[in-house]
Amino acid sequence: MFSVKSTLAIALLAATAVWADVSPDETCGDENGYTCPGEIKCCSVNGFCGSTDAYCLTTAGCQGEFSNSTAACTKPVDGVSISPDGTCGTEGAGEYGYRCGTEDGNSCCSTAGFCGNTTAHCSTADGCQSAYGKCN
Ligand SMILES: *[C@@H]1O[C@H](CO)[C@@H](O)[C@H](O)[C@H]1NC(C)=O
Ligand SMILES: *[C@@H]1O[C@H](CO)[C@@H](O)[C@H](O)[C@H]1NC(C)=O
Repeated sequence: MFSVKSTLAIALLAATAVWADVSPDETCGDENGYTCPGEIKCCSVNGFCGSTDAYCLTTAGCQGEFSNSTAACTKPVDGVSISPDGTCGTEGAGEYGYRCGTEDGNSCCSTAGFCGNTTAHCSTADGCQSAYGKCN
């Protein structure tokens, strides 16, 4: 015999499956209810599927409910996760220990916690944070 509990669980699973359609166009989230496909598993704060830190970081607003698994969204790893917002390190504006990426051409982490390429960002004498990007 089925218990009330397992019948409820099955009903809940069926409802979830109907509601969580896999995205046909790389959009996802609250607005259309689409869940991301496995190759681009994370649903960003803006409702797009992707697999880079900008999509997957919980601190950047990754939507676990609309990602391909609840484990798709990840917490930032100090000095490893690529900055999704131009901040870096743990000083000044830096909150999460983000590393400055090279995709956006901003590779040095300033003493104020911002990614950039100017001398003020990159100079070790000016406090460039080498654990979070390039320094000159
Ligand atoms: C994850 O993506 C695959 C396709 O890549 C899809 O078949 C599956 O239903 C998705 N899982 C969820 C929870 O949406
Ligand atoms: C910043 O530095 C990176 C890495 O050297 C480089 O690829 C990029 O072109 C630079 N960006 C600018 C705006 O100069």
